[in-house]
Amino acid sequence: MTHGWTKSTWRSKPRIQMPDYPDQTMLAQVEAQLSKYPPLVFAGEVRALKRKLGAAAKGEAFLLQGGDCAESFSEFTADSIRDTFKVLLQMAIVLTYGAKVPVIKVGRMAGQFAKPRSTPTETVGGVELPSYRGDIINGFEFTADARIPDPGRMLQAYTQAAASLNLLRAFSKGGYADMHRVHNWTLGFASGDKAERYREMTTRISDTLDFLTAAGITSETSKDLAEVDFFTSHEALLLEYEEALCRIDSTSGMPVAGSGHLIWIGDRTRQPDGAHVEFCTGVQNPIGLKCGPSLTADDLKALVAKLNPQNEPGRLTLIARFGAGSVGDHLPRLIKAIQEEGANVLWTCDPMHGNTIKSSTGYKTRPFDSVLREVREFFAVHNAEGTIPGGVHFEMTGKDVTECTGGLRAVSDEDLSQRYHTACDPRLNASQSLELAFLVAEELVGRRAKLSAAI
Ligand code: PEP
Ligand code: CO
Repeated sequence: MTHGWTKSTWRSKPRIQMPDYPDQTMLAQVEAQLSKYPPLVFAGEVRALKRKLGAAAKGEAFLLQGGDCAESFSEFTADSIRDTFKVLLQMAIVLTYGAKVPVIKVGRMAGQFAKPRSTPTETVGGVELPSYRGDIINGFEFTADARIPDPGRMLQAYTQAAASLNLLRAFSKGGYADMHRVHNWTLGFASGDKAERYREMTTRISDTLDFLTAAGITSETSKDLAEVDFFTSHEALLLEYEEALCRIDSTSGMPVAGSGHLIWIGDRTRQPDGAHVEFCTGVQNPIGLKCGPSLTADDLKALVAKLNPQNEPGRLTLIARFGAGSVGDHLPRLIKAIQEEGANVLWTCDPMHGNTIKSSTGYKTRPFDSVLREVREFFAVHNAEGTIPGGVHFEMTGKDVTECTGGLRAVSDEDLSQRYHTACDPRLNASQSLELAFLVAEELVGRRAKLSAAI
């Protein structure tokens, strides 16, 4: 822990992308109340995730992180949590097949409520109002009232996160996550008209499961086939909420963010001397850092020194998000900076945030092909540099939305209006997510083949 750090020292640092609450009395009441509530996650779980991420940094595991851009109060149902969880598990099996190492499953769930915005206000039909900043801060509705930051929303976010986690814990350990069952769903996808490309891989996974059954390794005899470990993550943007849920781990005596297992610092709030970095320096959780095109090598070095002074494995995950066509301009220089520092990091790829465009029909969207292209560029750079592409980070949902274009069941610009439900950025739907997992698995298979040929 940095000398002199407390869960409140961020308050003396420059802060951006955070609301100015007009009702300070209520803010103080909410903070006091949240400070007494139980943490949502526990130190032992946080340590377990860190160990797994440390393995991923060495190529001995692979990180799959995904979920909504912004969770919302109105879209909160058991079904939507179940559907996203289900697709993540399907993706994880396919990726396990490709990577031949365990896949670490981390949801952008149970806390992903606060959003950084590119402009503080938005104008619709000549009316200018403060931007929507996520349901934990203000309302999506375009009215002056809804856009006032309301501290009471933090309590609702906490309650929703607690209920989400309760369900996720039950799904993870209560039979829903059985590998045979999850794979059966994927067989349905791969038997579709245009999915023959993916059939060979699903057949091989089926054969493997059949072989295990024949050898007496079944969901009854092996916990590893019947259950999963599932972790939560979100951007640690609203620091009043983060501070109020920070707890001291009774085993180590160290502070832990109790709001989620992994918290990340966004591309807009990663100033080395800013409030967000300050908060993250003192908590023991694994930390993610979004790395966009404007990140300089010097800033990255300063951030690594601050966030991981002990060079602890699994502590720092660098989430590259440059945009298709730009990975080669930025990733090599940042990999070099990391190598110069001898820093221990896990490199993952977020192919969503650098690929947002406006469709011809006016919707914010992301073409499936650009998303895939960025992933491929990420792998190509790591293959060339001899470093490890250790994971992927997607904005996705288990629902059949029409927010990103392309994919097997091609969504066109004209289709976007049909089921465009996101509270913020466009998400891959269930089919697009699974298809992408197959394509990433192909990259992983190709990489393994190259590595073994080189030996
Ligand atoms: C996000 O992950 O939703 C996000 C805002 O990302 P970034 O900080 O990389 O723009
Ligand atoms: Co987003």
